[in-house]
Amino acid sequence: MVSSSSRAIEIAPGIHWVGAFDSDLRSFDLILRTANGTSYNAYTVRGETGVAVIDTVKESFAGDFFARLESVCNYGEITTVVVNHLEPDHSGALPELLRRAPQAEVCLSIRAPLMLKALLRSAETMPRGFRTVTTGDSVDLGGRTLAFLHTPYLHWPDTQCTYLGELGILFSGDVFGCHFCDPRLFNDRVGDFRFSFEYYYGHIMRPFRTHVAKALDLIEPLDLSIVAPAHGPVLRHGPRDYIKRYRELATARLINEAGGEKTLLVFYLSAYGNTRRMADAVRAGAETVDGLRVSLYDLEGVEPSSFVDLIEEADGFALGSPTINGDGVKPVWDLLSSLTAIGVTGKLGAAFGSYGWSGEAVEMIEHRLRGLKFRVPVSGLKVKLAPTDAELTQCRDFGRQLAETLTRPVSLND
Ligand code: FEO
Repeated sequence: MVSSSSRAIEIAPGIHWVGAFDSDLRSFDLILRTANGTSYNAYTVRGETGVAVIDTVKESFAGDFFARLESVCNYGEITTVVVNHLEPDHSGALPELLRRAPQAEVCLSIRAPLMLKALLRSAETMPRGFRTVTTGDSVDLGGRTLAFLHTPYLHWPDTQCTYLGELGILFSGDVFGCHFCDPRLFNDRVGDFRFSFEYYYGHIMRPFRTHVAKALDLIEPLDLSIVAPAHGPVLRHGPRDYIKRYRELATARLINEAGGEKTLLVFYLSAYGNTRRMADAVRAGAETVDGLRVSLYDLEGVEPSSFVDLIEEADGFALGSPTINGDGVKPVWDLLSSLTAIGVTGKLGAAFGSYGWSGEAVEMIEHRLRGLKFRVPVSGLKVKLAPTDAELTQCRDFGRQLAETLTRPVSLND
């Protein structure tokens, strides 16, 4: 006997929510807080010839999922299991589902099989019938057709969306989702989740905004009555408003008066003015190159994380730090760690700084820049204590090299 709290929720004729509510969750993936808990949204689509299950739930909520699933179908009716995303909050109940419905064909993105194998940790537990799908592929359930959209890196390589054209429902995975737990489920019935929606985008999707923009190119032309994400409210009221908001969020946030010019940011911290003199010279050297807008900032003057928007829009940045106790100084690491919230792959990065006796900071910063997937084509520059006139000339040359690298086409060797 299924309790009423474990019943599926119909979101459209023949389409049910069979997920789970997790009201106690307070942090997700270690990187974001969930003040309102979350939901793991899974769905079923019933056609004349079969039933599809779209995603599952976190393993510890499998009981709720199976109870709801059993309230709308028998396992023998399940012909298709769609895996929009393999992160364990959506795939936790997948192995058990496949044991209960071994006849089902598993549809997953072309990037997913290796990840699925790694998640299941055993080739023996790989589903016997799985099919990789991409944009243009579909599954016919009899009067209900699931079409797949290849939308990778939202926010894992495997992610995809699934579109039920007959009813205009987009099962979007994490996209358009948020961590907000409210059993009233629909966006026109739950509490105010605007904060959670924006917060989720900012922490989960923002680093992949170029991929978000490509996905929106596929999604925007669709006829949509409902967006059914993998977390948070089902968006049946004004679904296109949320798509429009994603387009805004994925678009450059700052006005760029520089037009077609490239932009280089030079940040520094300086205890005794030596790294500052280097930074001034780096800027002066960079400014000798046409087609580049150069800006200089002292990180002592503001919270480093305040620069995230600016760095997201910049083409490159150089970071100057003294070496103190064999390390770069804390604001530098604070700035660099804040960059995981944005996409920096391929931007130019560089390091410089004055030191007293060992000078490890420059190499350490370069290492971190490479780890963040900046390209670091110009070797860092370090100067012992006060820069001489000759060393300031080296700093200007360093700035000019950065500028020339930014203003010429990117080489595969960079
Ligand atoms: Fe909701 Fe990326 O898992």
